[in-house]
Amino acid sequence: QAGIPSVKDVVTEFPVGAAITGAEITTVHGDLLAKHFSSVTPGNALKWDATEPAENSFTYAQADPLIAFAEAHAMAVRGHTLVWHNQTPAWVFQDANGATMTATAENKALLLARLENHIRNVAAHYGDTIGTWDVANEVIDESQSDGLRRSSWYTITGLDYLRTAFRVAREVAPHATLCINDYNTNVATKRDALFNLVVKLKGEGVPIDCVGHQMHVNVNWPSIADTEAMLRKFEGIGVEQQITEMDVSIYTGSGESFPAPPADRLLAQAYVYRDMFALFRRYRADLTSVTLWGLADDNTWLDTYPVARKDAPLLFDTRLQAKSAYWGVVDPS
Ligand code: XIL
Repeated sequence: QAGIPSVKDVVTEFPVGAAITGAEITTVHGDLLAKHFSSVTPGNALKWDATEPAENSFTYAQADPLIAFAEAHAMAVRGHTLVWHNQTPAWVFQDANGATMTATAENKALLLARLENHIRNVAAHYGDTIGTWDVANEVIDESQSDGLRRSSWYTITGLDYLRTAFRVAREVAPHATLCINDYNTNVATKRDALFNLVVKLKGEGVPIDCVGHQMHVNVNWPSIADTEAMLRKFEGIGVEQQITEMDVSIYTGSGESFPAPPADRLLAQAYVYRDMFALFRRYRADLTSVTLWGLADDNTWLDTYPVARKDAPLLFDTRLQAKSAYWGVVDPS
């Protein structure tokens, strides 16, 4: 594979990134990562449970080596993520007596103070090294009439957790691009709910610079037209857009399971990557980054989510060889 083109040299319209969870910076994985990608997202290492497992006790042991690798290879870094309802330790939502918080003014003040302290520490630790932050992750629930997810963050603070998170992130990391990130934004109801929230908060002066589209998709879904509609929706409201977590599952439903990826699915996947990247490259006015949620098929979260089964959603296979999907991106003809 030494002679094949580098993804980042072919796709020059925006940085192309990969999420990594540890082993990807060593030996052959590190070589593959540095050759093909110009941006890195720590897949778990910057989440709350990794950086502040106990109150006011911060550790960067997981994230620092990943970010040092990115710096050494002049790669951009996307920080993921400062506020989310998952991978957040239980103590965050416990009151002074160790009981699960209820929605009181006292608990709200405590929770917002913890959020502020968390962001101050994590964002300050990295300064300008982290050029983009997913400040808030997955806050939309389009099945609610107001479109807002009923996380503990929301039920205890209303929208103030978002106001606080973006304000503090801007203060501590004034040069970083601040994103609100979500999945299924190709679905009209979901993207409309996100759009309404972003417009409302920006109208109040909340410093949201960017909308992140996760893009966990599959070989059958969504259509290119829906994906283009997703990007068009956020044009002209003063935000950048980024594709933050793309992968293309070979599965089209949760009932399927293949011992090895079937050839027809891998071919369909190559066409999805080809057509999606063609769209992204054509649509480059406010699309400032495209990241894949993994480096190669030997390490993908889809091997365990939504059920345990072998998936193959990335550009390189389990032996780190370029797949048809890679050629779909690099040689779309
Ligand atoms: C996933 C990681 O890849 C897994 O290793 C972890 O067990 C669970 O989280 N949306 C997100 C990411 O925003 O943070 C998730 O990452 C995948 C879905």
